[in-house]
Amino acid sequence: MPMKKRIETAIDQALARARRDTVPGKLARALDHAVKPGGARIRPTISLSVAMACGDDSPELASAAAAAIELIHCASLVHDDMPCFDDAATRRGKASVHRAFGEPVALLAGDSLIVLAFDILGQAARTDPARAGLLVSEMARYTGMPHGICAGQGWEAEEVIDLSTYHRAKTGALFTAATRMGAVAAGQDAEPWTELGARIGEAFQVADDLLDALQPEEVTGKPAGQDALHNRPSAVRELGVGGAIKRLNDILSGAISSIPACPGEAMLAEMVRATAVRLTPAHSTAAE
Ligand code: IPE
Ligand code: IPE
Ligand code: MG
Ligand code: MG
Repeated sequence: MPMKKRIETAIDQALARARRDTVPGKLARALDHAVKPGGARIRPTISLSVAMACGDDSPELASAAAAAIELIHCASLVHDDMPCFDDAATRRGKASVHRAFGEPVALLAGDSLIVLAFDILGQAARTDPARAGLLVSEMARYTGMPHGICAGQGWEAEEVIDLSTYHRAKTGALFTAATRMGAVAAGQDAEPWTELGARIGEAFQVADDLLDALQPEEVTGKPAGQDALHNRPSAVRELGVGGAIKRLNDILSGAISSIPACPGEAMLAEMVRATAVRLTPAHSTAAE
């Protein structure tokens, strides 16, 4: 099955489980709104690519890991857009969840997606309990405190913030989870895959800061200029546009050289190169 289909099928199965009884309709629709149609699905794509590069000997588990990571990501976007964080009216070219369904339902939708993500891994324990257990720990580690998305968003409430600590937790964490969980799902050690995920994640957040500063909402599908508006530390604020672009290119060239030796090494290098092309600002200006 093609990678995109594997990801969407695993996500759809999880969403269907969330509707399997009499459920509050608005909340159920809010889950769908938050997850479908998706954005670039970059994190599950990376995760499955790593699993495939490592042999993909347990495809069901690898698909489960990929879907779980994407649901955590979607949950983080729902919460990130709420008035208590970025107060964004749009996401992925349509109304943000709190604008479409109200704040209480948005809060619950984010919570429900996080729980559903862990439920996917719980279900996967039927396939391989040992690996599923490791996947749960990995996902918890990169979602919560002290190193996960919660920590990253938590830095925004502090007076003094180190940009790279903030970025590593806010965005890098889930990319690190993606590479590590792809490896674990395929029965491999997670550790050698940390650096690749961290580097892609760091590059990704620099690219997102550039998009935020340079591109209008019609291109990104979300409000522009949010970092300056909320006075957030960003690569553009710290390094300027030219400095941020240079930083992005430096990180990306390091990412390819950090790919561990594995059967699918060449395929993975190609995936990282394709991601790099998508992230560079010149591409986004020319192609959109
Ligand atoms: C946006 O992530 C949030 C950040 C961490 C910068 P994506 O750009 O991957 O969002 P979607 O899933 O494609 O919409
Ligand atoms: C979002 O960071 C990171 C999350 C943990 C959701 P941003 O606030 O910079 O992302 P966008 O620009 O809204 O997608
Ligand atoms: Mg934010
Ligand atoms: Mg935001």
